[in-house]
Amino acid sequence: MAIPRVHTGIPGMDDILHGGIPKRNVVLLSGGPGTGKTIFGQQFLFWGLEHGEPGIYVALEEHPVQVRAHMRQFGWDARKYEEKGMFAIIDAFTAGIGEAAKREKYVVRSPDDLMELIDVLRRAIRDVRAQRAVIDSVSTLYLTKPALARGILLQLKRLLSGLGVTSIFVSQVSVTERGFGGPGVEHAADGIIRLDLDEYNGELRRSLIVWKMRGTSHSMKRHPFEITDRGIVVYPDRVFIPK
Ligand SMILES: Nc1ncnc2c1ncn2[C@@H]1O[C@H](COP(=O)(O)OP(=O)(O)OP(=O)(O)O)[C@@H](O)[C@H]1O
Ligand SMILES: [Mg+2]
Repeated sequence: MAIPRVHTGIPGMDDILHGGIPKRNVVLLSGGPGTGKTIFGQQFLFWGLEHGEPGIYVALEEHPVQVRAHMRQFGWDARKYEEKGMFAIIDAFTAGIGEAAKREKYVVRSPDDLMELIDVLRRAIRDVRAQRAVIDSVSTLYLTKPALARGILLQLKRLLSGLGVTSIFVSQVSVTERGFGGPGVEHAADGIIRLDLDEYNGELRRSLIVWKMRGTSHSMKRHPFEITDRGIVVYPDRVFIPK
């Protein structure tokens, strides 16, 4: 029997995933700085919005104002869907400080307080009837307390998966790190997609690999991808061979 899947909305990506992300999966989207994690997550959400699937974005690294501005650069008008009640940005960045923050509807004052974050998440998911969620980044939640990483991830997963939401958890790794964000989170996640940047003949090249995806087969190859002013494009027919 075919399992329910969620389209990523990223050209080429669903081919690599043999049809899309199995519904309710929590996917760790891991990569170094500037590898395209935020853009990938926002593109996933925006495609959903344009196809009648509401979503939420948890901003832990950037001001919500900046999130909207960056999305607009790719032609993704977040505001329009916020006004329609289909999209919510959860501000876990400003701690409610500043004029702009006062206009935010969903504010997490202390992101270190997991219970507060979960309360705000639950409210936002209910309000917009979210089917997709992006947390950017989960690493921020346990940077100073790695021993708690697995527990934090599992609590978030229980909430989101339990509500039928398919999620992308952005995981930051350093440039030289081979892993995906630590053993606890790597095993707790249902899927791992790793984005990479490699220097090749004096030029940075982008590639990605699906390391695991519970509930489906997937390409076992490393594929090149590009970021254009319309977002990410993946090449499922091409293999990237790092030097
Ligand atoms: N319009 C564009 N066209 C092509 N490439 C772009 C465009 N806008 C941004 N980029 C590329 O995308 C990169 C940023 O991607 P993104 O913000 O998704 O990275 P990230 O993985 O989230 O990084 P970090 O971990 O630092 O947050 C930039 O460094 C740039 O190389
Ligand atoms: Mg980012």
